[in-house]
This record gives sequence, C-alpha cells and structure tokens, in this order.
Amino acid sequence: MGETATKRFLPLFHLLLLLPATAFVGVYSSSNDFIKQSCAGTQYPNLCYSSLAPYASAVRQSPAKLSVAAANVSLAKIKDALSLAVSIKRGSGGRIGAALHDCVQSLRTAADLTKQAAAEMGKLGAESKDGGIAWDASNAQTWMSAAMTNEETCLNGFEDARVVSGAKAMCDRVGEVKKYTSNALSLLNTLVNGGY
Ligand SMILES: *[C@@H]1O[C@H](CO)[C@@H](O)[C@H](O)[C@H]1NC(C)=O
Repeated sequence: MGETATKRFLPLFHLLLLLPATAFVGVYSSSNDFIKQSCAGTQYPNLCYSSLAPYASAVRQSPAKLSVAAANVSLAKIKDALSLAVSIKRGSGGRIGAALHDCVQSLRTAADLTKQAAAEMGKLGAESKDGGIAWDASNAQTWMSAAMTNEETCLNGFEDARVVSGAKAMCDRVGEVKKYTSNALSLLNTLVNGGY
C-alpha cells in the first residue's frame, strides 16, 4: 500500500495496522478486510470501500464476486445519472439540450456494457477450472473499459456548456459515476492480472 493510501486509511485501519504485515498476505481476517485491501489498489479507495462494504456477506473473500459487486454498484450509479439526464433534458433546448440528448445515449450504452460485463464476470468463478477465465475476463475488461469511454463521451459533450447550471449538475454526477466505473475496472484488472 502506498504512503498516501495508508494515510488516507489511517482512521479505518488504525487497529489493523497494529497487526504484523504478514497477516495481510493471502488470508484476510474478514470480508471487510478483504474489501479494504482490494480497494486500496483502486484510484478512489474510500469510495470503493464505502460502496462495496454493504456487499461483504455476498462477496466474502472472492475477487470475482467483488468485481461483480463493483460492476453492480457502477451500473446503479449510471442508472441514477440517466434518470437525472432524462429529467434535466425536459425543458432544455439548444446546445445544452443536444448535449443532454447525446449524454443519455452514451449513458444507456454504458449501462448496457456494464450489465454485460457484470454477467460475464459472474461466470468467472464457475468457469475457472476449464481455462475459460482469460477469454471471459478479457471481454469483461473490454466492456467495462468501453463503459468508461461512454461516460467520458457524455462529459466531453458538455465541454462548451459547463457554465449552464443544469449541465454543471450533470457533469458533476457523471464525473462521480466515472469514479465507480474506474474502481470496478481496476478491481477487474487486478483479478485478471492475478493481483490477489
Ligand atoms: C449483481 O447483480 C446481479 C443482478 O442483479 C445479482 O444477481 C448478483 O447477485 C449481484 N452480485 C453481487 C455480488 O452483488
């Protein structure tokens, strides 16, 4: 764990840090520890942990299940952002209306890709014995990464209209969504690269 991440996690970790470092190698004392340690490698570790800790009992200490849970969370955030975009779009015309229209399309695509990726990741555990894991994982990686590109496409559409308050709210929201997607992709990449 990097120094910055360590400092950031100090309030959460203050008890765990008293344990010998070897306690973290391979075996975790609880699902919450597993999630914390896994999230420490993502770009937004606090957000990662707080959003995934509620799924601890479903995830246990399975990296594949954690990736699915992260994709599920990301999908839920994309859907929330979609609802916001649709509601702001009503009554918006001109360039901002057009940007919102395009954003809705991009977010719909991002939602489809994330759903598809989550379904594919769900198979990873079941297929891990027959060598199918690399193929499935690379599809899921491609789709999660394409979902993030679509979120960026939405944001790029607002570049010239950032001053409009409606678009500002939308940009902020999609910027947040991108963090969840980034974390989900990072957990998936770690899973694929055998980082657990
Ligand atoms: C992810 O979502 C799917 C579909 O709603 C659900 O079946 C699955 O249990 C969820 N997995 C986790 C780990 O949350």
